Amino acid sequence: MPVISTPYAFNEEELYVDLRSIFGHSLFLKCEGFNFAGSIKLKAATEMVESAERAGDLRPDTVLVESSSGNLGVALSMIAASKGYRFLCVTDSRCNLATRLMMEALGSQVHVVADQESNGGFLGARLAYIRNLCASDSRFLWLSQYTNPGNWRAHYRRTAPAIARAFPRLDLLFVGAGTTGTLMGCARYFREWHRPVRIIAVDSVGSVTFGGTPGHRMIPGLGMSVQPPLLDESYVDDVVRVAEADTIRTCHRLAKRGFVFGGSTGTVVSGATDWLTRHDAQDRTAVAIAPDLGERYLDTVYHDNWVQDLYGEDVLAPVPPIGADVAPLPAPSPGPPEPEPQPQPRRRRRGHDA
Ligand SMILES: Cc1ncc(COP(=O)(O)O)c(C=O)c1O
Repeated sequence: MPVISTPYAFNEEELYVDLRSIFGHSLFLKCEGFNFAGSIKLKAATEMVESAERAGDLRPDTVLVESSSGNLGVALSMIAASKGYRFLCVTDSRCNLATRLMMEALGSQVHVVADQESNGGFLGARLAYIRNLCASDSRFLWLSQYTNPGNWRAHYRRTAPAIARAFPRLDLLFVGAGTTGTLMGCARYFREWHRPVRIIAVDSVGSVTFGGTPGHRMIPGLGMSVQPPLLDESYVDDVVRVAEADTIRTCHRLAKRGFVFGGSTGTVVSGATDWLTRHDAQDRTAVAIAPDLGERYLDTVYHDNWVQDLYGEDVLAPVPPIGADVAPLPAPSPGPPEPEPQPQPRRRRRGHDA
């Protein structure tokens, strides 16, 4: 029985969903949303704060500051509240309401920048705001998740060893790429492991992380409008890019089976099942990482108006209202997996950074 006295002391590290019955592929989804911060960012936040403490960078009057689209901001808010630090999160207008309220409930200050850049992102404006703050007042300490080695080290020390313990014969690992902290920490660990593991990065269409032209994106967590400084592509064996309409379909397909995951999990699962379909990988052991759960996305990814407005009316197969169909429900039978709905044309979207 785990008994804790600090909120960051608990993290469920051993939970996987077997996706075979939903997607027809042998794929184990590592669930990272079961902790008090609700996401995988708890590990990066803990590592970055504790390494700043070890370096003697945190004084009683220090104000932590960080740019975040949400999850890291919540994790840092929680740690700051628990340890008695002040924290300012710099985000943009697309940080969802639940996340902002959560940070404020934890006692953090939230600053929302409004200036969107020509590449569709807000990252430059967020970072410029933080640089000005730090230049104007020495009490501000910027953890800088985009460059801080503590970000990838957290996954080198915790996420990857946990996967290795659970799957000693792992062949394939699918990791979504935001700051690339998770990707680089896991890739570095498995490069040194006792057997080769193929590391497959999953990115969103419109992200420039692995090259290509910037495009409009609305799902937070994955994708960047500038190349992430932590990324070393020599550790990445393959890259899959996923259109946001496919992310949405995958999230809803999981939800119809009772698993409400965050948007980036839809991207990772969509990319992984696409890759597994294109490669003969039936006898391979494959794991994908689910960064968070779906509650923070109820008014976006799981909200019909938001989805239809951004991705078109037909992006989701219509679900008839209960009772509209007078025919009796068929008895459950172990049939083949249900077919994937066909991709539909997408509408214009704006960029989003981790
Ligand atoms: C929901 C979600 N998915 C994916 C990621 C990507 O993780 P990383 O920044 O380690 O690449 C993040 C990071 O913030 C996230 O919040």
